[in-house]
Amino acid sequence: MLEQIIVDDFVLRQVPATLEYAQIIYDIFAEDVETFKFWMSGGVRDSVGEVLSYYEKREQNDGVRWRHAMYGIFQNDELLGEIGFSGIDLQYKTGEIGYWLKKSARGRGIIEKLLPTIEKLGFEKLGLRKIDIWCDADNIASRRHAEKNGYVLEGIQRERKLWPDGSVHSTAMFGKLKSEYKK
Ligand SMILES: CC(C)(COP(=O)(O)OP(=O)(O)OC[C@H]1O[C@@H](n2cnc3c(N)ncnc32)[C@H](O)[C@@H]1OP(=O)(O)O)[C@@H](O)C(=O)NCCC(=O)NCCS
Repeated sequence: MLEQIIVDDFVLRQVPATLEYAQIIYDIFAEDVETFKFWMSGGVRDSVGEVLSYYEKREQNDGVRWRHAMYGIFQNDELLGEIGFSGIDLQYKTGEIGYWLKKSARGRGIIEKLLPTIEKLGFEKLGLRKIDIWCDADNIASRRHAEKNGYVLEGIQRERKLWPDGSVHSTAMFGKLKSEYKK
């Protein structure tokens, strides 16, 4: 994972697994539970401690084969969201891109601006063969990003997820091959 990436006035760097950031992220999620359900498969984290433990585990879970490369999106030192690889399979040379933004940062084209940077990192620096974007089939904003960036809808995995409220959700699977990547 690169230390930091600068794109215009955005600084991408890892969110430290500290109580301070756990509180900030907990507040961001709590402000917009309805949208963040898509990010957390139906249940936002119940406490600041849960958020902290998630970030601690994410740091520790990097194994021989699997890696994370999620970057906090900072503007003037304010955390606006995250973007990066929520999972990299070093053996298969594939990665899955994930992103989220706090409510007030949406609709400003931030993901649109940063997605190509992450894609470039994956294909050119990390040597990936394929990048996926998997999202809830009802997550229109996320699907738009995949579509606008030339990801191919490879299928809908029907009723793949069961959320804590009992509802079932399908997953839209988008992917882009290195051969489809335009520098
Ligand atoms: C996904 C997320 C980062 C998108 O935020 P954003 O980049 O600011 O995106 P926008 O709100 O500008 O929406 C992107 C596009 O979808 C469209 N869109 C969003 N919601 C829509 C809806 N309900 N119906 C129709 N179109 C919609 C927007 O009009 C925009 O279209 P455009 O590109 O043609 O202008 C944000 O919604 C989020 O943080 N969601 C929670 C986390 C999440 O779901 N992450 C993705 C997991 S795979």
